[in-house]
Amino acid sequence: MADTAKSAKLTIGEQSYDLPIYSPTVGPDVLDIRKLYGQAGVFTYDPGFTSTASCDSTITFIDGDEGILLHRGYPIDQLASKSHYLEVCYLLMYGELPTAAELEEFENTITRHTMIHEQMHNFFRGFRRDAHPMATMVGVVGAMSAFYHDSTDISDPRQREIASHRLIAKMPTIAAMAYKYSIGQPFVYPRNDLDYAANFLHMCFSVPAEKYEVNPILARAMDRIFTLHADHEQNASTSTVRLASSSGANPFACIAAGIACLWGPAHGGANQACLEMLKEIGSVDRIPEFIARAKDKNDPFRLMGFGHRVYKNRDPRATVMKQSADEVLDLLGVENNPILQVAKELEKQALEDPYFIDKKLFPNVDFYSGIILEAMGFPTSMFTPIFALSRTVGWVSQWKEQLADPQHKIGRPRQLYLGSALRDYTDIESR
Ligand code: CMC
Repeated sequence: MADTAKSAKLTIGEQSYDLPIYSPTVGPDVLDIRKLYGQAGVFTYDPGFTSTASCDSTITFIDGDEGILLHRGYPIDQLASKSHYLEVCYLLMYGELPTAAELEEFENTITRHTMIHEQMHNFFRGFRRDAHPMATMVGVVGAMSAFYHDSTDISDPRQREIASHRLIAKMPTIAAMAYKYSIGQPFVYPRNDLDYAANFLHMCFSVPAEKYEVNPILARAMDRIFTLHADHEQNASTSTVRLASSSGANPFACIAAGIACLWGPAHGGANQACLEMLKEIGSVDRIPEFIARAKDKNDPFRLMGFGHRVYKNRDPRATVMKQSADEVLDLLGVENNPILQVAKELEKQALEDPYFIDKKLFPNVDFYSGIILEAMGFPTSMFTPIFALSRTVGWVSQWKEQLADPQHKIGRPRQLYLGSALRDYTDIESR
């Protein structure tokens, strides 16, 4: 916990209370209200946790007003252009950039854990073919606790580390298998001679009937998508992982909970929702109609891929993702694809519209990632599983950090109760 030199005075009626204020390394000060209920008998009210720090963390920092995202202090644009996903995984998990030897050992460890228990293949086959890959992933990742008993003792740091390695290593295999199963193709085993991103493309797109060469530019773009989604401090799915873990649940169950939360369209599901929206718009001339709907208070429709809870400036991940989208579209020669034309024009019109300008609604990372994934040949149903596999390292890093924190305790928010006060039960004949 940060040292405190400052405090705030809260006055309720005649009584005043001193509340400590902590200063973080960077970012706004934080008011400590932990003793407030004990001293003053009041709770604080913050639905959606818009103003509440739920933990201390040293992993990721976001300044949403300035559009800054740092992992262990390093800006995301530098990591996306100079580093690669597994190095960023190491950084997130261990706090520092690895030496060459440390990176080699880490990459070997992850590569050697990519296969899943053969018995799990049968588990996959129990799902309907038309199951959404996210539904399959929630089930299969949760079921890992039934297969890897030797890494579920959360009180043992070595078991925590092995569980983390397994999750990072096996998640691409699980996501690719969920995809292969949904299209009726055979599962493709991982290849240890390929890097993390190339191996994922291989497991998704190769078939036993013919040779498949991974395009290095697409592998690089894939790696960048993984890197840009690796962690995002205390977002909904990460907070879900931490909350699940706070009860002492095993790592695989906690990450399955994170996947379930990520699935929603306001979070990781936005990339699928965004592409489906672009397809629904269909042609450039229909864009004004959809922008008008997004602005209409009586219409629940929102422009998917726009806005962010924290970023009230450009999403720094979106800036890098946009460059990557341009490279991939150029390589694949699909600039004239109607969906991509709708995307480009929608971006332009929304950025010029006073509604979006005033509310600081910019395209977020999901706006561009969906465009790249579509161009690569992934169906929309795979967009959120790809987000989930990328975010796994963030979840496990935050989970490990939480368990190593001696102050951690079960998460248990309070409420503003507005239901009936005490009343007597009425017999059914009298109702
Ligand atoms: N289209 C139209 N209006 C919007 C949009 C949008 N995409 N996003 C926010 N607004 C409006 C909203 O109606 C509200 O207006 P008013 O103040 O007049 O009531 C105002 O902007 C603030 O919105 P909010 O819902 O209070 O903001 P929030 O911080 O709770 O929500 C959000 C953030 C991401 C859930 C929201 O912007 C949204 O639903 N965006 C579309 C879904 C999306 O793209 N999500 C992906 C986020 S990035 C990936 C990730 O990290 O998970």
